[in-house]
Amino acid sequence: MQEIKKDYKPLIVAFCCNWCSYAGADLAGSSRLSYPAEVKIIRVPCSCRVNPTFILKAFQRGADGVIICGCHPGDCHYTSGNYFARRRMSLLFSMLDYLGIERERTRVEWVSAAEGAKFSAVMNDFAKTVTELGENKRLEDLRCKN
Ligand code: FES
Repeated sequence: MQEIKKDYKPLIVAFCCNWCSYAGADLAGSSRLSYPAEVKIIRVPCSCRVNPTFILKAFQRGADGVIICGCHPGDCHYTSGNYFARRRMSLLFSMLDYLGIERERTRVEWVSAAEGAKFSAVMNDFAKTVTELGENKRLEDLRCKN
């Protein structure tokens, strides 16, 4: 277990689908619900747009945690994109297990456009979990350090 610095703030990448989760993040913001500033949102058309290599790349570039947020099952704007995303991510998670990356560093969540409070709660909880895990050293590419 690595020692966690006192002022450590994890870098979190959140892939949010345009139609639900991004709108949920927007609602959280307009409702003045807070979530950590370390969460960097990347808007994607659908959760199925997230190629598993994006997650590996994010870890390589220094992310400590990666979360994918999409529409609830059955609500995907493209009918079944989130089912594909879920299947892909479960394969990626088993690969990350194999590589020795803590399972808790990645997460898939379904957040609708009306769930600003859920978005805020999920991000706060995920940031807390990743903070407890500490820095991601295993997949980090040292060439990407500044
Ligand atoms: Fe939101 Fe597909 S459009 S998950």
